[in-house]
Amino acid sequence: MIEPSSIISGMSFPKIGVVVSTTRPSRIGPKVAEWVSQLAPYDAQVEIVDLAEVALPFLEDHAVPAAGDYDRPSTIAWSQRVRGYDALVLTVAEYNGGYPAVLKNALDTLKQEWAGMPVAVVGYGWGGAAAATAALGTVLDRLRMVRLDGPGLRFGEDLSTEGEILADAPEDAVRGLYDQLLAAVRESQPAA
Ligand SMILES: Cc1cc2nc3c(=O)[nH]c(=O)nc-3n(C[C@H](O)[C@H](O)[C@H](O)COP(=O)(O)O)c2cc1C
Repeated sequence: MIEPSSIISGMSFPKIGVVVSTTRPSRIGPKVAEWVSQLAPYDAQVEIVDLAEVALPFLEDHAVPAAGDYDRPSTIAWSQRVRGYDALVLTVAEYNGGYPAVLKNALDTLKQEWAGMPVAVVGYGWGGAAAATAALGTVLDRLRMVRLDGPGLRFGEDLSTEGEILADAPEDAVRGLYDQLLAAVRESQPAA
């Protein structure tokens, strides 16, 4: 979803993918990602990236991802899609003290695409998904992404277990995260 209001004739704004990291039939991930996307500033193009729709197999390419020599059409499409974003926001559920396997697979499927890409993390769960985002941070650092840690939404305080966003949800923190993300994009892509 590209917000029409984010596009002003003659100007090109950074394109940010807001990733839904879960695929369960009854997941709330899309509601969290939608809330995050609606807090984006006017000078960013925001698109939801639903890993359920991306639907990657588990590492079926012949070569290792670091080679960039992809033969699976799904990997080629994923690589092209990722290269189309200037930055990502990962919305991250906590599963058994970690982050969803489908997100790890989406990261592991590519390699060179991640290096230097600004990435912000917004967790959700009991305790704000602190364990999940800490574990994910190690992986994002290994991939040499430019990591920005955002807020964790807590069940009962910031959102309901059905995915309803509550009044105390940290809107200002997410807006501040976008500011940091856009600054990181500017830093990674200096004007010619
Ligand atoms: C397999 C599984 C493991 C879970 N483990 C945790 C956990 O360790 N910590 C936590 O805060 N919530 C945990 N939960 C609750 C999730 O945070 C909650 O179900 C959330 O809605 C998951 O995101 P989703 O609906 O987008 O899949 C778990 C849920 C599932 C399905």
